[in-house]
Amino acid sequence: MSGLEKDLKGLMRTHHCGELRLSHVAGRQVVTLCGWVNKNRDLGGLHFIDLRDKYGLTQLSFDQYEKKGGDLNLLKQISLESVLKVTGIVRARPDDAKNKNIATGEVELEVHEVVILSVADKDRIPFLPSAATQASDDLKLKYRYLDLRNKKLQDILQLRSDTTVKIRKILSSIGFIEVETPILYKSTPEGARDYIVPSRVHPGEVYALPQSPQTLKQLLMIGGTDKYFQICKCFRDEDLRADRQPEFTQVDIEVSFPTQDYIKNLVEKILIELFVLPENFVLPMMDFNLAMETYGTDKPDTRFALKHMNVTSLFLKSEFQTFKTVVDSGGMIKAIFVPEAMGAFSRKETDHLTEVVKPYGGSGVATFKIVGGEPSGGISKFISSELFHSLEELSFKRTGERGNGTWFFCADKREETTHACLDAVRRHLGVKLNLIHPDQLSFLWVYDFPLYEWDEENKRFAARHHPFTSPKSSMMKDYFAADPKDGKGKLRYLLADAYDIVCNGYEIGGGSIRIFNQEVQSRMFNILGMTEEEALYQFGFFIEALKYGTPPHGGLAFGLDRIVMLLAKTDNIRDVIAFPKTTSATDLMAKAPSSPGPAQLKELHFKWDLKS
Ligand code: AMO
Repeated sequence: MSGLEKDLKGLMRTHHCGELRLSHVAGRQVVTLCGWVNKNRDLGGLHFIDLRDKYGLTQLSFDQYEKKGGDLNLLKQISLESVLKVTGIVRARPDDAKNKNIATGEVELEVHEVVILSVADKDRIPFLPSAATQASDDLKLKYRYLDLRNKKLQDILQLRSDTTVKIRKILSSIGFIEVETPILYKSTPEGARDYIVPSRVHPGEVYALPQSPQTLKQLLMIGGTDKYFQICKCFRDEDLRADRQPEFTQVDIEVSFPTQDYIKNLVEKILIELFVLPENFVLPMMDFNLAMETYGTDKPDTRFALKHMNVTSLFLKSEFQTFKTVVDSGGMIKAIFVPEAMGAFSRKETDHLTEVVKPYGGSGVATFKIVGGEPSGGISKFISSELFHSLEELSFKRTGERGNGTWFFCADKREETTHACLDAVRRHLGVKLNLIHPDQLSFLWVYDFPLYEWDEENKRFAARHHPFTSPKSSMMKDYFAADPKDGKGKLRYLLADAYDIVCNGYEIGGGSIRIFNQEVQSRMFNILGMTEEEALYQFGFFIEALKYGTPPHGGLAFGLDRIVMLLAKTDNIRDVIAFPKTTSATDLMAKAPSSPGPAQLKELHFKWDLKS
C-alpha cells in the first residue's frame, strides 16, 4: 500500500486480503479485512474460510470465534461468494500449515468478529468464478461481473490501467497535451459503417459516432495545438474478429511540422516504455511490397521465417491444369518450403489445409514431398525434373533451404486470394511446427503503402488508409493528372505517406502524414468518386479550414486493446475489455442493442418498417 493510500482513512477494512505477512504478527495487531468467501472448510474441530479480494487470499481461522460470542454454525453454512467483514488478530501459521504458494501463506487471521455484508444465492449463482473455465463463453459474458472476480481478468484491468498511465506520462513529458473531442459528431470514414444516433431536436437528422477523431485532431493542428493526444473510444460497425470490437480504444496522436522520421522516433520511445525494450531499440522497417511478397500480408508475424516464394513464372509451361488456368488468367502461384528437419506432414494434415484456406476464398492447398531427393506424393507427377530444379534453386536463393521436405502451394486468379491463403497456411504451420516463442515480440514499421485500392464492384478507387492521407510528395504530378476511372492506370501505383506498426502479426497502430493543402484534399474526394457537392456536404467545414493557414501535420493511432493483448499475452480482445461485446456486436449482460420504447421512438421522430 502506498503512503498516500494508507493516509486515506475511511475504508471499512484496515488491510486488503493480499497484504498480511509475518511482520504483522508482532504486537498481536487487530486488523479488519473485507472480501468474498472463496473456500469454506469444516475440518471437524477446526474451521477455515479463505477470504478473497482482488489483491489476494487470506486464511481465516475460527478456533477463538465462539469464545468471543460468535455463531460458528451460521458461518459454516455461509455460501461461497458471500461478502464478509472480519476482524481479528494476525498470527503465524504452524510450520506444517504454511502455504508457500500464496503471498499471505505464512499467516492467518484469528477471527474474533464477523459481519455478513452480503449473502450470495448459492442455488442461483450461474457459476462460481473459480470454475469459470467450465462455463460457456456466452454465460461468462452474461455474468461478466462474476468472471471479473477472477485474478486473471483483474490483473489485466490493472495492466490496462498501468499502461494508460504510462502513455499519459510519456506523451506529457514530450509536450503532448490530452484533448477530448466530441462523440456526437459527423461521419469520420475509416472504412467501416457508422453507428448513428438520431437527433430529437432536429427531426430526421442524425449524429455519427466517430470511427476515429481523424478530422478533429487535424482541426486541432489547424487550431495551433501543436502536439495532441487522446485515449479515446472509436466506434466501427464492421465484421468482428478475435482482435476487433465495435467500440475500441485508440491512443490517438497528432503533431504539427513532423517528418515520418519524427513519428517513427516517437513510436520507438513509446514502445520502449510500454514493452520494456532496450533503450537503443530501433523499429525494423519493411516496405509494403516486400511484406506482401515475403509474407502475403501487410501485418506479418516476423517471429518465424517460412517465407513465401512467388513461383508463378515457373509454372508457365506446367501440365498441372489447375495451375495452368491460374497462370493463363494472369493469377499468382506462391509456395512455402518446409525442410524435413523442421517437420513432416501426414496426408490428413495436408488435407486439413483446405479448411485453413477456405475462409480466405481458397479451394485447396497443393503439396508434394521431396523424399531421398525425389518429388513424391501430392502433385509430384506434374513436377518435371526441370521444374523441380528451378523450385530448389529459388528456395535456396530465398531461404537458404532445399532438399528433403514438403512444398505447399496456393494459387488463384486473384493475387489477393493467393497472398491471403498462403499467409493463413504460413501462420498455421508456424503454430503447428512450434516455431513461435510466446515471449518474443517482433515489431515492424511497414511503410510505402499504396494510396488506393481499386473497388472493382463500384468501378472506383477507395482510400487504403483514409482520405486525409497525403500521397508521396514526389507523386503529386500523377495524382493530379491520372484518370480516376482507370483502375489499371497510374493512380493504382501511387504511394501514400502512410505507415503501420505491426507486432507478432497484429496491426497495433497506423498513421500518416496528412494532406494540408485544400486543392490536394479536394482532388482526393474527386478521385474517390465524390461530386463537389457531396464533398462539400460531407466535409465542407474541413475543406474550408484548410484555406486559412494549415501547418503540415501527421500522426498515428495505436490500438490500445491490441497493445494490452500483447502485454497480457492473450489472443482474445475480450480479455482486455471490462465489458466486451460478442462477435455479433451484442452485450449479453445488459442485452444491448434493444428496442426503443414507443415514446422514445416518437420523441426521436423515428419510424421503421421491420418488414422491408
Ligand atoms: P486505423 O483505422 O488504422 O487508423 O486505426 C488505428 C489502430 O486502431 C486499432 N483498431 C482496432 N482495434 C480494435 N478493434 C477495431 N475494430 C479496430 N480498428 C482499428 C488498430 C489500428 O492500427 N485515424 C487513423 C489513425 C491516423 O491516421 O492517425 C485510424 O483510425 O490497432
